[in-house]
Amino acid sequence: MEKTFTLYNGVAIPCIGYGTYKVRDASAADIVRTALECGYRHLDTARIYGNEKEVGEGIRLSTVPRDEIFLTSKVWKTHLSYDDALRSVEESLKDLQTDYLDLCLLHWPMPEGDHVDWRQRDLAAWQALERLYEEKVLRSIGVSNFLPHHLMSLLAKADVKPMVDQLEFHPGYCQPYALSFCQKEGIQIEAWSPLGRTRVLEEPLLLELAEKYGKSPAQICLRFALDNGVLPLPKSSSPERMKVNLDVFDFRLSPEDISRIFTMAQSGWSGQHPDTF
Ligand code: A2P
Repeated sequence: MEKTFTLYNGVAIPCIGYGTYKVRDASAADIVRTALECGYRHLDTARIYGNEKEVGEGIRLSTVPRDEIFLTSKVWKTHLSYDDALRSVEESLKDLQTDYLDLCLLHWPMPEGDHVDWRQRDLAAWQALERLYEEKVLRSIGVSNFLPHHLMSLLAKADVKPMVDQLEFHPGYCQPYALSFCQKEGIQIEAWSPLGRTRVLEEPLLLELAEKYGKSPAQICLRFALDNGVLPLPKSSSPERMKVNLDVFDFRLSPEDISRIFTMAQSGWSGQHPDTF
């Protein structure tokens, strides 16, 4: 089975990434190094996670060369202006001890505080990413938590279409409208919380399918993302579960089972709506 997706600009992206949200205590660099040693070649961080120094240190401590790692960071909603976005990326690069990112995302469509001018502010920050993309500091650029209406506003004025949209996606919260909008536009969807932060792992349907396929409910969630063309970013601090979460390339869900998961009752939503959070 293919272990990469290809973004519309031709950049290959490992089809499972390691999510580093909340990896930020004293052992964070070791956890990142362990993830690399377990086989992850795609790391997802963000300015707001406050762990870029540790992620950079984890990469440095590992035996994996930088150019074999797909590294993503994000610009937080406090930095939705042209200059602030440039500064945010500069700080990310410094903390991550690198001179380029494989992917950089605008993290949230709504600015901090007053939301009235969100369209102009998204565009201004986006233009900073476009510039860094042209300068090859960023190999690809995208957004996160942008629903179709946020994307429509950006697409109307952007020179470069986002290559990625990272959304909450897991059994019980699939955002089908956003999914089909992005897929029609050729925008790769990444899934944050692909395991629903464990809230969906006891769902009877997932337990039933885990039994049927001889896998765990977490592996069913990850396969469900992949079988829908969505790139999951699972988090785990345990080496055992890090490995389990990569061991999903020896089975596929049947169309009927995909449909059952896709249409199951809403469950495990984080409560974080992009327009109000
Ligand atoms: P842990 O760090 O103890 O492994 P999500 O990626 O959806 O945000 O979920 C992250 C949560 O899922 C973490 O609490 C993590 O705990 C747990 N988790 C990660 N992988 C697995 C797995 N394979 N089975 C059960 N729980 C998992």
